Amino acid sequence: MTTAHDKVETNVGLLIVLVLLVVSIGGLVEIVPLFFMHSTTEPVAGLKPRTPLEHIGRDIYVREGCYLCHSQMIRPFRAETERYGHYSVAGEFVYDHPFQWGSKRTGPDLARVGGRYSDDWHRIHLVNPRDVVPESIMPGYPWLATTAVDASHISDKLEAMRTLGVPYTDEDIAGAAASLAGKTEMDAMVAYLQNLGTTITTRR
Ligand code: HEC
Repeated sequence: MTTAHDKVETNVGLLIVLVLLVVSIGGLVEIVPLFFMHSTTEPVAGLKPRTPLEHIGRDIYVREGCYLCHSQMIRPFRAETERYGHYSVAGEFVYDHPFQWGSKRTGPDLARVGGRYSDDWHRIHLVNPRDVVPESIMPGYPWLATTAVDASHISDKLEAMRTLGVPYTDEDIAGAAASLAGKTEMDAMVAYLQNLGTTITTRR
């Protein structure tokens, strides 16, 4: 007895057509709602574009490969929210290009590290982590403290961010280089870290 199923399985042409049909319906069901879900593309209330100094700090974070040991995404599980604070929401990252979510956690998640320690703690920690956390295996980054910020391309960088939808004003861009005068890479890194995750502030 040949069933309808046998017909489909023994007729390659029909099988291909039906597979494509099923895959495209499945695809549409997953993709189309994303176009209407504004919660994933709209900034959370109070989200501000990074200052030029924080932006440089982000670039140094990427340059030094901090993401190789640190994620920036708190999952919505009790064990995570107890330790790190409110879980991450999409609207916190809409100005991040590229975002630094990651999944490698040799060190703690940094999504809400802003405000957890003092600036001085970060400065000491980044030069030699063992000075504040004796058992730490994190490498030191002492050169950040002695290297001046490279401000030469900051206007172009902010301009590029604006093309991607980050609402920098003309004044922000024009004044960016001047705001970096006299700053070190350490200043930039600490500014960046202290701003992380501070838009949503409900913490333990
Ligand atoms: C080899 C892995 C590794 C790399 C690379 C690394 N870290 Fe860490 N980091 C750790 C570990 C492990 C800890 C936990 C021990 C400690 O506090 O030093 C940590 C802790 C931290 C903390 C404290 C977090 C908290 O909630 O207590 C901050 C902030 C931090 N790292 C920032 C950075 C930055 C910025 C960079 C890049 C310049 C970086 N880390 C690179 C492993 C790493």
